[in-house]
Amino acid sequence: MPEPLPQCYLNGEYVALRDARISPLDRGFLFGDSVYEVLPVFGGRMFLFREHFDRLARSLREIRLENPHTHEQWRDILEQLIARNGGGNCYVYVQVSRGMEYGRNHAFPAVVKPTVFAMASPLPVFTDAQRAAGLSAITVEDFRWSRCDIKSTALLANVLMKQQAADAGVNEAIIVRDGHVMEGSSTSVFVIKNGVLATPPNSHSILPGTTRDAALSLATNVMPVEIRSVSIDELRAADEVWISAATRDVLPVTRIDGAPIGTGRPGPAWHRMADAFAQLRQQLASTPAYTP
Ligand SMILES: Cc1ncc(COP(=O)(O)O)c(C=O)c1O
Repeated sequence: MPEPLPQCYLNGEYVALRDARISPLDRGFLFGDSVYEVLPVFGGRMFLFREHFDRLARSLREIRLENPHTHEQWRDILEQLIARNGGGNCYVYVQVSRGMEYGRNHAFPAVVKPTVFAMASPLPVFTDAQRAAGLSAITVEDFRWSRCDIKSTALLANVLMKQQAADAGVNEAIIVRDGHVMEGSSTSVFVIKNGVLATPPNSHSILPGTTRDAALSLATNVMPVEIRSVSIDELRAADEVWISAATRDVLPVTRIDGAPIGTGRPGPAWHRMADAFAQLRQQLASTPAYTP
């Protein structure tokens, strides 16, 4: 993975990422008591800003932590961060923790001063070889908690699943609960069969993906879309499988648990979706910046 860009934002200041420091007593470190967002930036412009910061606001509400900033303030903080790192194409990572207190108590501190951190990184590259061959995945049984809709930094289960995928030499772990597909360890999952696109409904068992929603609205004009439970058998028998995430758009998965999906090559529906995303990014470049 490429190194992050040099300047970060920490509690009101822009500092060199290498010099940024937080307390070991920070609750993000001690308890994973924090939430985060990741959003892509194209030509210096944040993509789906409102959707990401609505989701951050929701995550904060769900963990009962006051949002330290309005959308407008977030936009200003991040626009400056992006500019200080040279603009262009990158992604921004934002994390808000419940701060630190002198001690270690599970229950919230009486006075909360959140830790607010943001950094920028180059976007991961989807290589020409990957574009031609597609990605590979394994399926893993779900052993996460029951509030996967909160974008929490407590990601140990996802970390272990992704490592299982890495150990197997594949790109993603697709999470299955009771015979049904939930999502990837860091992606949303779609299946296409006979020209119909299906993806599991939002629930406490999956993260409501911003890229998933964007893909669904692009797809509704060109193909039937079903938001419904997807079984592991349907996953294996699909013509195409896609995964999506903010830093990667929608990507084709052509091998699962060692067996080919459909023809074993990225399919025609994925090519259309990839083109639609490219157009959406271009549109973004020619529209005014986000205004709350
Ligand atoms: C568990 C999980 N599901 C889905 C997604 C995709 O969400 P988004 O498209 O908003 O990046 C992510 C992204 O990080 C994720 O971690």
